Amino acid sequence: MYLLDFRLGEKTGIDLLREARARGRSAPVILFTGQGRARTDSEALDAGAADYLEKAGLTSAVLDRAIRYAVAQSRAAAELEQKVRERTDELARANEALRDADRRKDEFLALLAHELRNPLTPITNALEILRLANDTGDTVRRQRERMERQVAQLKRLVEDLLDVSRITTGKLRLTIDALTVQEVMESVIDMSRSQLDKAKLELIADVPAEPVRIAGDRVRLTHVFCNILNNAAKFTEPGGKVWLTVAPTGGRVTVTIRDTGVGIPADVLPQVFALFTQVDRTLNRSQSGLGIGLALVRRLVEMHGGTVSAHSDGVGTGATITVHLPLPRRG
Ligand SMILES: Nc1ncnc2c1ncn2[C@@H]1O[C@H](COP(=O)(O)OP(=O)(O)OP(=O)(O)O)[C@@H](O)[C@H]1O
Ligand SMILES: [Mg+2]
Repeated sequence: MYLLDFRLGEKTGIDLLREARARGRSAPVILFTGQGRARTDSEALDAGAADYLEKAGLTSAVLDRAIRYAVAQSRAAAELEQKVRERTDELARANEALRDADRRKDEFLALLAHELRNPLTPITNALEILRLANDTGDTVRRQRERMERQVAQLKRLVEDLLDVSRITTGKLRLTIDALTVQEVMESVIDMSRSQLDKAKLELIADVPAEPVRIAGDRVRLTHVFCNILNNAAKFTEPGGKVWLTVAPTGGRVTVTIRDTGVGIPADVLPQVFALFTQVDRTLNRSQSGLGIGLALVRRLVEMHGGTVSAHSDGVGTGATITVHLPLPRRG
């Protein structure tokens, strides 16, 4: 606690106060002055004075009160500072714990995907051998085909999971080739055909005859559109329709996939591209999935320099997914 006079020869009390504060001294200071210096008053407070008193008419009671206030104020400020420091420390620790948990979750996902994939290869091979042996009756053949379908589904999930963990760890690399959108769509439709048939959906494709050339990763782009069609098939009632439209415009090509399915509620719409988002986990359990398809779609499309968006007028009105991919510059 210091009591400082304003007039101190060369320097003023305020100068001294500023120097003290600049050196990190925080003890409370009360300044005294002659009379009527309104400007000095605010300057003193700005400089960090606890109070500013005129010497004329100063009583011991006033001084005593000023000192008690200044000390209490400075104690409160110190306590507050201490609390802020403690909170900041706690937050930093919590943050570190979260990052650590997130890292472990990523590692776990990668491990899980690998562990799940390992048994899939021998199962697939065994099924292939059974298929080639071909000396079995109808029942066995039907069951084998069923297993093949389930294994294919499992493989798709595991591959998605692996890709997600490759993306989160920055290990996913694209293999860019010169492609046409047409050849990509051909294999997409080919691969989705049986699923669309099974869901009893009509696919109406509108793809221009003129080749639309793009630079992209054939496997990943096929995967992107298969994932979107897969959703359309999953979330559309039998007898519904799915439109697949390709339209080159300006410097980009727009691929739109629209369905007549359950649609997406407006409040979930902004989140469908986030990892693990599913509109209704409880109701849709007959529909398999982890909620990673669209997250993967977005990352892969963005890695191609494109964008993807989802639109729906609400529940029961169908959904539209729109993908824009840049066209290579001619030259
Ligand atoms: N065409 C669609 N119609 C209605 N809802 C959709 C459609 N596409 C996606 N959704 C909603 O968005 C959610 C996220 O889709 P996403 O493809 O990421 O996950 P998923 O299909 O549930 O699981 P996964 O793709 O991992 O198998 C879905 O669970 C569904 O609720
Ligand atoms: Mg999906």
